[in-house]
Amino acid sequence: MLLRLPHLLGVEGLTREQIAFILDQAKPFQEFQRHPLKKLATLRGKTVAIAFFESSTRTRISFTTAASRLGADTMALQAEASSLSKGESLLDTVRTLEAMRPDGIVIRHKSSGAPAFVAERLEIPVLNAGDGMHEHPTQALLDALTIRDRKGHLEGWNLTILGDIFHSRVARSNIHLLSKFGARITLCGPPMWVPRELEALAPGVRCTSCIEDALANADIVMVLRVQTERLHEPALAPGDYILRYQLNEKRLRLARPDALVLHPGPMIRGLEIDPAVADGPQSAVLEQVTNGLAVRMALLYHLVGSASADAPHPAKDRSNASD
Ligand code: NCD
Repeated sequence: MLLRLPHLLGVEGLTREQIAFILDQAKPFQEFQRHPLKKLATLRGKTVAIAFFESSTRTRISFTTAASRLGADTMALQAEASSLSKGESLLDTVRTLEAMRPDGIVIRHKSSGAPAFVAERLEIPVLNAGDGMHEHPTQALLDALTIRDRKGHLEGWNLTILGDIFHSRVARSNIHLLSKFGARITLCGPPMWVPRELEALAPGVRCTSCIEDALANADIVMVLRVQTERLHEPALAPGDYILRYQLNEKRLRLARPDALVLHPGPMIRGLEIDPAVADGPQSAVLEQVTNGLAVRMALLYHLVGSASADAPHPAKDRSNASD
């Protein structure tokens, strides 16, 4: 069966068919976000643990809302308020949560590989909500849904990613996903953030520090948040970053006229992106957020609800409404 995945740990191990299936399943959930009554009974009686060992706003709210719109209850752990601050290990914390019998667990953690480590030790499905510098699979899937909607398909695009690629799990997941669909990928930023080793991540990847070169012929420009604490003078001051790498209107004109602009958020206007571009007609940043709900609903439905791939889709089947 197409989506008999026990967990969602990354995009690297997914096939093109599995990716297309997840995006197809997200489609009716996308429509569903426009309904006046946003509640299904699909996961009624199920509980999803949302364990964020690293602070997050949008991804945490998105997963929590996705679970709740499917009718599930959630059990939330927030790093700052938990016994983690008292030194408890990751394994003890998730085993404690598991003992309260959730039906699935969503994990964000600063260590790469933490969700896989947990998945090997728990009996329930694990969904990776971002692990260290490794992967952020739901972000890449929601980006893919946005690209497919805006540009008609996923095949063969010229993708340019701007910013701190080296530390970015969003970039890694997107590179894995889009290279499976034949993308030519250009990574651009200050040399310390685009080491040539990144070219080995997938076929069709190249690194450059010249933004004009990176933007020429781009169909999709993905801008990453600049973590200001990583901008160290004299290596690179924020002013230099803006001068050399900010995506502004003039630079965007170097890309194809219909190039799509994406940003995973949180976005620092005026640093990595000019507000005129962030709010301009080529930007899809708010669509990305809405699509995040649809993708996460599709994944929770299949992984936590153990739906079969040929079951009637809950967002199409009116008998499934919760009232
Ligand atoms: C990203 C993350 O946490 O990896 N944010 C997100 O989940 N939308 C990107 C970032 O924090 O810069």
